[in-house]
Amino acid sequence: MNRSSNIIDCKSNCFLTLLLNILTINFIHLQPLFKVTYKLYKMSNITFTMIKPDAVRNGHIGAILNKMNEGGFKIVAMKYTRLSKEKAGEFYEVHKERPFYGELVDFMSSGPIVAAVLQKDNAVEDFRTLIGATNPAEAAEGTIRALYATSIGENAVHGADSDENALREANFHFSGTEMFM
Ligand code: CMP
Repeated sequence: MNRSSNIIDCKSNCFLTLLLNILTINFIHLQPLFKVTYKLYKMSNITFTMIKPDAVRNGHIGAILNKMNEGGFKIVAMKYTRLSKEKAGEFYEVHKERPFYGELVDFMSSGPIVAAVLQKDNAVEDFRTLIGATNPAEAAEGTIRALYATSIGENAVHGADSDENALREANFHFSGTEMFM
């Protein structure tokens, strides 16, 4: 091989090595971004729910979880817990100006709840259909609220009303390591 072809080989090898290094470095740097994007993509299929103190007191946890399973929802996080008044107030902060806010906070901190993150395509909308209208008197037959709620204030379950709120509410109750998507 003559000298000039050696120089060309060296140049193309150097170029390939440089390109490979750039791609590797960029990939390493972009990896966390890929992970976050993938997690957010998966999270658009989640909703957040609570089985409220009335339904827990009345022994409806099992029946309500069964309705969720039958509705095609997969439980990806769940805990049996009790909200302090402060935490309940924080969770429902968007309703702070509403006349029922105080009553809502007292009720939601009055006993244990079951908090859960559920996964399914179109999770937020489908779950709201499964639970029925906020006021059980207006909830469609067979929905969770029609079956287990007693009043608009004590309405057995909560369901997030948007993808954005589902994420916020899931993160309010669970850390990343407690959710299994
Ligand atoms: P939830 O889906 O958890 O979101 C807000 C809650 O406020 C709602 O369910 C009801 O329990 C409660 N709520 C809404 N309207 C009223 C009302 N008019 N009186 C008492 N509580 C209410």
